[in-house]
Formats: sequence, C-alpha cells, structure tokens
Amino acid sequence: MAQIEVRNIFKIFGDKPQSVLARAQNGENKDDILADTGHTVGLSDVSLDIEEGEIFVVMGLSGSGKSTLIRHFNRLIDPTAGHITVEGTDVMTLGTDQLIKFRRDKMSMVFQRFGLLPHRTVMQNVGYGLEIQGVEKAKREEKAREWIDQVGLAGYEDSFPSQLSGGMQQRVGLARALCTDPEILLMDEAFSALDPLIRSDMQDLLLALQTKLHKTVVFITHDLDEALRIGDRIAILKDGALSQVGTPADILLSPADDYVRAFVKDVNRARALNVDVIMRPPALRLTDETIEEAMAQMRKAGEEYGYVTYDNEYRGVVTLEAMEELNGDGKIKWAREIADLTHSVHPDEPIEGAVPAALTVDYPIPVVCDEGELVGIVSNEDMVSVLDQPDADSGEELRH
Ligand SMILES: Nc1ncnc2c1ncn2[C@@H]1O[C@H](COP(=O)(O)OP(=O)(O)O)[C@@H](O)[C@H]1O
Ligand SMILES: [Mg+2]
Repeated sequence: MAQIEVRNIFKIFGDKPQSVLARAQNGENKDDILADTGHTVGLSDVSLDIEEGEIFVVMGLSGSGKSTLIRHFNRLIDPTAGHITVEGTDVMTLGTDQLIKFRRDKMSMVFQRFGLLPHRTVMQNVGYGLEIQGVEKAKREEKAREWIDQVGLAGYEDSFPSQLSGGMQQRVGLARALCTDPEILLMDEAFSALDPLIRSDMQDLLLALQTKLHKTVVFITHDLDEALRIGDRIAILKDGALSQVGTPADILLSPADDYVRAFVKDVNRARALNVDVIMRPPALRLTDETIEEAMAQMRKAGEEYGYVTYDNEYRGVVTLEAMEELNGDGKIKWAREIADLTHSVHPDEPIEGAVPAALTVDYPIPVVCDEGELVGIVSNEDMVSVLDQPDADSGEELRH
C-alpha cells in the first residue's frame, strides 16, 4: 500500500459540478466544458501512488491543477468524484475532530509566500505547530531551536520575518513545517518566488535534510529543471489530467506525449541525468589475481582491460598492454599492484562529470560508490546514446 493513493479523482469548479461530471468522465475537453457550462475542470481522472519516503514532484504549467491536486491530500478540497487514501484511511471518512488532528499531526505545508506570522519571532513561528498541539513552552523552544539550527538560521531566533531575506524566510517556513515531525510534507511552489541562486541553495537544503529525514515530500513546481533535480518521481499534469508519472530518466528518455516532449526538449541531459542511469556491470572483474592469472583471464575473455576489486574495494583498472610491458618482471606479483586508480565517477554524479575521464582513457569509466565499491562502468557509447537528443519539433511555446 502506497502512503498516498489517489484514485480517479475529478474536481469540477462551478455551481453544479455533478451536472457536468459525466462530460468530464467521457473525456471531453476542458475548454469545451468551460465554454458550454461555465464549469472549470480542475482535475480529470487523476490516479497515482505516492510512496513513503520519496520526493514526489507534481509539475505542470500554471492552471494545470497542481495546487488543486495536493489540496485534496489534506482535504482542503473535496473531490467531485474519486478517492484519496492516506495510510489506508479514506480522507473523506474523517469527521471534523479527526480531520483537525490529521492535518495537525500527519502533514505540514510549506507555501510559496512563506505564510509566516509577521508579529512573531522566528522562534515563535517555528514553534507554532507545537504550540497548537499544546506542547509546553520549554519543550517547544528546544525543538524549535533544533530546527532553526538544521535550516542554518542559528542566531536569528529573535528576529521577525520582515527582518529576513526571502530565502531566510522560507528557511523559517521549512523549519516550522518540520518542527511537528509530520510524516508528509506538502510544498506548493515553495521555492518559486526565490531568486535562482537562493532557490538552488534551498533545493540543496531540502535534499540534504531528506537524506536524514526520509519524509514523504510532495513538491509542486512549474519548473522542469527543479523537478528533475529534486524529484525521485515526477508527475506531469496538463489541463487537470496526468500526462506521465515516472523517474527523471523516464521523463527525459521516454516522454509519454508531445506535451512532455516539448517540456524536456531543451534539457541538458548530461547535467540532468546521473551516471547510474547508464552504468552497466563491468566486463571483467578481477579480484585476487597475479599478473599471469590476470593476463590469462583477459585473453580468454577477449578483453583489453579489467577492473580490480580487493576486500570489496575498488583498486583500479589494469590493461593487458601494461601487463605485457612488464614482460615477466618478477618484482610485481599481483595485478592490483599495477592497477590505475586515477579515473572513477560516483553513481549519483551527473553524466557530465564522467566526460573528462572518458576523454582521457580508452576504457569504460569505473563507477565507484561512497563505500569504495565498484558498482558499474560507463562506456562512451552509452553516454553518446543518452546524450544524443533527437530534435523535437513541437512546443517551444511551453518553455518559460
Ligand atoms: N476555487 C476555484 N474556483 C474556480 N476555479 C478554480 C478554483 N481553483 C482552481 N480553479 C481552476 O482549476 C484549474 C487548476 O488550478 P490550480 O490547481 O490552481 O492550478 P496550478 O496550481 O497548477 O496553477 C485552473 O483552471 C483554475 O482556474
Ligand atoms: Mg498552484
């Protein structure tokens, strides 16, 4: 069971939403329905699963239904048809008291315009959710201080929002949302009002916090670069309907329709995709071989190079040529003694980062994780096949 399950949601805005539901369910166009009936189709047959601990991005142009969708999750909006369950509970079944508790404990929201209380200090703003929960002052100040620290605002506890820059105010917004330790964080264009550099800092902060917190984050943006940067998965909305749900690699490499294709057309894939998308298992892995054994294995496998690991740790590349040059020199016994450790990349590094190494050597570049283990290799051919972008011919007008 996914943490949030959305099933066949329709949301129609207007006086008599039920009266036009059938037309929307028959797949009639949003513009036609509006022209005929004065009703706006906010969401049309949206179904998706959001898994615990993922950053799930909802992306689409202005008016595509992003805010309408996440307002269903904490029932700020009721659907015209369909179901939303959060951890197995259909949110429509919650009574008033349950709903208040559900909103207070389960989810927090971070808004584009920060939504801070102007006459309260940073400390009071961050501790606000705990205050509502009735947590005593000393306890909530302790918690608030921790979160103020985590978002890099130590020293600003007694400042007022108006004394802070936009980026700092949004750090307060984030700290406030996290202070009640909610399982789900809803972020509606939370970074969209910030200048590009500040915005990029906030993305870094969110990603850094997420490596420790593993919250379920539902993040709305109209910016594809932001979506690709922070999303584990991305849902793309168009006129209230889902065009595609997938990983950044799915979206970039297999766009589902012309709308998505237009969005991804100009993305620099070398920067947006990480090495792990294109890596494959090493052709020849050597572990504890002498020079002679390594040469024999390479000749047998028809490989010019091998990747040496020892004690579960990557030790470098050996080439057949280098070993042949030793010419039976008895001083060097083990293949790992002549392995070259110079070139390797990290699986979470953008493909771009592997290019310099790929230009330097003529073997596929080893991919080594934080623990020092060899997890794969990337070849020039694999890089080229992903980076070669066929020219899409539509949709320039969709870019901002
Ligand atoms: N309260 C409302 N009353 C009428 N129409 C609305 C209301 N809220 C949203 N809409 C319409 O629903 C569609 C989706 O809006 P919204 O979810 O705000 O889009 P987004 O967040 O992607 O910009 C738009 O056409 C918008 O005009
Ligand atoms: Mg919106």
